[in-house]
Amino acid sequence: MNIKLLVTTLAIALASHSFAATATQPKAETPEQRDARMSWWREARFGMFVHWGLYSIPAGEWDGKGTKGHGKEWIQKQAGIPADVYEKRLYPQFNPKEGFAEEWAKAANMAGCKYIVFTTKHHEGFAMHDSAVTTFDAKDACGRDLLKEVVDATKAEGLKFGAYYSVIDWHHPHAYAGFGLPTVKGVTNQGRDNSIYVDYLHKQVEEIVTGYGDIDILWWDFSKPDCQGESWRAKELVSMVRKHQPNMVMNNRLYASKNSFVGADSNLLKEWDSEIGDFTTPEQSIPDTGVEGVDWETCMTMNKTWGYSKFDNNWKSSEELIRNLIDVVSKGGNYLLNIGPKADGSIPEQSVQRMQAIGKWMDVNSDAIYGTSASPFGKPQWGRYTSKADRLYAHVFDWPVSGKLTIPNADRKVSKVYLLADSAQNALPIESVGGGWIISLPSQGLDAVATVVVVQYE
Ligand code: GLC
Repeated sequence: MNIKLLVTTLAIALASHSFAATATQPKAETPEQRDARMSWWREARFGMFVHWGLYSIPAGEWDGKGTKGHGKEWIQKQAGIPADVYEKRLYPQFNPKEGFAEEWAKAANMAGCKYIVFTTKHHEGFAMHDSAVTTFDAKDACGRDLLKEVVDATKAEGLKFGAYYSVIDWHHPHAYAGFGLPTVKGVTNQGRDNSIYVDYLHKQVEEIVTGYGDIDILWWDFSKPDCQGESWRAKELVSMVRKHQPNMVMNNRLYASKNSFVGADSNLLKEWDSEIGDFTTPEQSIPDTGVEGVDWETCMTMNKTWGYSKFDNNWKSSEELIRNLIDVVSKGGNYLLNIGPKADGSIPEQSVQRMQAIGKWMDVNSDAIYGTSASPFGKPQWGRYTSKADRLYAHVFDWPVSGKLTIPNADRKVSKVYLLADSAQNALPIESVGGGWIISLPSQGLDAVATVVVVQYE
């Protein structure tokens, strides 16, 4: 290609790119309006993810054999089960106990979560709401609208509600197989018309965003470079959703990332935010230094599976989970921690224990989590910082043997330093040195996982 042609091609590409960006941006959401829309989500910092579907019944075992792969919500693909066989075996067995949704919402609230994100339809295609466009839904399977039960219970606990929706579908006869998407063995595109499936997907999402009051989050899952955006008619989909739920917050997985499996590249998100999504979604990992200039949420399992598995005993300790929460928040992100209830809806005992332990820590220390921003001083060796306008929180993981904690000077006067767990707020002695302050600590911390020292500025 000669230079002139290259320049012209580039110019056309750039022009059409910026045209696309302006033409599709929702009308005039100012940065202030966006901040207002995002504010509850940014303050919340901690949410509970729930993976629950027909796959919770086999719980990792098919025909007497455990399947390979960590996420047991993928059992249909792991065991190569044709959709009709999967449906025939599992659908009639699905009959959750009464009141399961209240248990979830109470567990979330107890742990200090401010929102719940629930799999309204995972890759298996089974819809938890009462869907008029399929009988492969909860209403037809067990006579109950399970989405309504979950939404109502969540709101009754004063929490925000997020709907996870998988654009991948292993059940619908026209959903595309291939194009880099994971498909069940033997399924091809022959005779499939993706547009029929995409119509269906739009209708289901419309049912969800119009039939259940406020849906605070739409958590899409997922795309690959060859199958993303307009493969789902994303622009139309997003504008429909935003029309019905103008305050909603949305993740970025209608688009793919080139590098890792975290939804659209964060750079794309910066440029096209409202269209591509509002936040990015590192999965099972905590970015080293946060994600510059972009809202983000780390989603993570307590063991290694999202959907319930009777085999997975790789439980993270409560200490690790609490420190993960602090680590994420210290870098400006949210932490979405998963539970995978059993088929009847009950939460595995190991998860309940962990939620309780987190809740116990949060009862004392949540001031150092909610509404805080990223550390102004990076990652100290002994723990993490979070901050608010008038205070700094030092989360001490490793209590210093010297009894002294040195913190940098923020060029501000310190009025008082105390332990958050000390209800009397007894002042700790401080001394100013070169670039900072030395705090004299009691001989022991008040919490072996993380004791929070509050540095109150004048
Ligand atoms: C991936 C997996 C899925 C899980 C999700 C959570 O998309 O396919 O099973 O629901 O990640 O982030």
